[in-house]
Amino acid sequence: MKRILLPIILVAVLVLTAACGNGGDKSSSKDGKNGKLVIYNGQHKSATSALIKAFEKDTGIKVEERDGKSNELAHQIVEEGKNSPADLIYTEESSPQIMLDNKGLLAKIDKDASKPIDSKYKSKDDTWTGLLARSRVVAYNKDKISESELPKSVKDLTDSKWKDKFAFQPTSGAFQAQLSAMIKLEGKDAAKEWLEGIKKNGKTYKDNKRALQAVENGDIPFALINNYYWDRQAAEKGKDNLNSRLYFFGNHDLGDMLTVASVGVVKSSKHKEEAEKFVKFATSKKGQQILTDKSKQYPLNKEANTKGMKPFSELRPPEGTQDLGKYADGKEAVNLLKEEGLL
Ligand SMILES: [Fe+2]
Repeated sequence: MKRILLPIILVAVLVLTAACGNGGDKSSSKDGKNGKLVIYNGQHKSATSALIKAFEKDTGIKVEERDGKSNELAHQIVEEGKNSPADLIYTEESSPQIMLDNKGLLAKIDKDASKPIDSKYKSKDDTWTGLLARSRVVAYNKDKISESELPKSVKDLTDSKWKDKFAFQPTSGAFQAQLSAMIKLEGKDAAKEWLEGIKKNGKTYKDNKRALQAVENGDIPFALINNYYWDRQAAEKGKDNLNSRLYFFGNHDLGDMLTVASVGVVKSSKHKEEAEKFVKFATSKKGQQILTDKSKQYPLNKEANTKGMKPFSELRPPEGTQDLGKYADGKEAVNLLKEEGLL
């Protein structure tokens, strides 16, 4: 009897070990460990997936991508605590990373892994690092309005002269970050007044793509969007085949605010070494070129080529908007938007 039972028990134990994720999965990773990483991805899927594919090919480490909205994914990690399946989190802006860092939920990353990125765009305590910068910008229809007629500041849009002239997207994370920055720099009352003004004068759209399409069709003269929506169209169709152009205020105006898509390693990760490798790949020239080509956001590793986009060195973003401090979680901005019935 014993002779028959023992092999059965052994087989059962082996099957069980193989089934419970962290222990026995014989993945294809060369180092023989279970190299499967889980990344919570809040950024545009096509660029992240392309990056993952190249990383898997280079390292043999498998990555599972779970997509969602940046803030929601960050709060999911807060709720999951030490049991979070996430090894990495990649967000549209740096604010969710700052929030996680403040709660002690991010691991320190080896300095070497984010070496190509300027210290301006990463955390001081070596937790998260920026990968790509995105600029707020104006896309305008050149047959409807000339560049010299456009406003000198995004703040001017409360003037009745701009009634029905522009589009904006209150649900956009970058728009909300811009509003948070205004609350931080000028106070809640000024931000509220601005929001009321643009609500009165502007037309809201569900997403940046539709707002840009409305400009392209000539339905509206200009829209407040993120640079890459237009840059992608320009790369796809050729700039000369578009009716729209990009306009940067060019004077450190809030209308040219940069937000920084960032990645962090989750403290509870059991695959820190592999996660660090992913960060290193994402900041490398090769990884940055993939992200730039796919997303048309600005690479923070200067070695990657931006091909036809306005050079990053020529952008004049506002100062003091990278770390929004207590406004980083966007709550105040969301409350204002709700008060105004825009959300
Ligand atoms: Fe976007």
